[in-house]
Amino acid sequence: MEHTTDQEFWDARYAEHERVWSGDPNAVLAEEAADLEPGTALDLGCGEGGDAVWLARRGWRVTATDVSGVALERAARHAEAAGVAGRIDWQRHDLGTSFPEGRYDLVSAAFLYSPIEGMPRERILRTAAAAVAPGGVLLVIGHAGPPPWDPDAHPGVHLPTAEEVLKSLDLPDGEWDVLRAGEHDRVQTAPDGRVMTRTDNAVMLRRRPA
Ligand SMILES: C[S@@+](CC[C@H](N)C(=O)[O-])C[C@H]1O[C@@H](n2cnc3c(N)ncnc32)[C@H](O)[C@@H]1O
Repeated sequence: MEHTTDQEFWDARYAEHERVWSGDPNAVLAEEAADLEPGTALDLGCGEGGDAVWLARRGWRVTATDVSGVALERAARHAEAAGVAGRIDWQRHDLGTSFPEGRYDLVSAAFLYSPIEGMPRERILRTAAAAVAPGGVLLVIGHAGPPPWDPDAHPGVHLPTAEEVLKSLDLPDGEWDVLRAGEHDRVQTAPDGRVMTRTDNAVMLRRRPA
């Protein structure tokens, strides 16, 4: 079936399997947020909720949003099972057209991609930066390229470098500190069971306190 919207594509993608992602938090988020004082967090494109549940377990109050209602229902069940349902507000948004209200101590976007043409990722990330409270942190995690086992895994999706992400955020001079911008490797298991190394990238910035 041809999908025309992000919601159609991602609902179908999630409905194909009982679980698509591992349920674990992204390693970079866990590494970087481990040293942050828990406050309010916004997870953009939260999928099945691995990051949101991990943050809530550590005391954060999380707003987690995704375009897919299928993913959000599954994520909410994960949070119930983990005993943190009361600390996560699940919101369905197509982030190209609507965005959660408020300002947050941590705003995270991990692998926020869609193969449907037109998802305004750069604009969404600029809105994400605007949603960071003074003293708060923006974390953007992405792939540096396709997985080694499938060079065609992301057809039509531009995978920006950390430098491209930084540039496209277009942040005003003197208001932000770059805490991290670059590539890192992680070990992943390919669908055929081979253990392989994949390269991702991450940008982390802190908005200077007012
Ligand atoms: C590759 S998955 C990453 C999920 C999760 N962040 C993780 O790291 O496991 C991309 C997520 O972005 C969501 N997404 C794609 N386009 C979106 C849009 N326009 N608005 C909100 N979420 C979107 C998808 O539904 C999907 O859950």
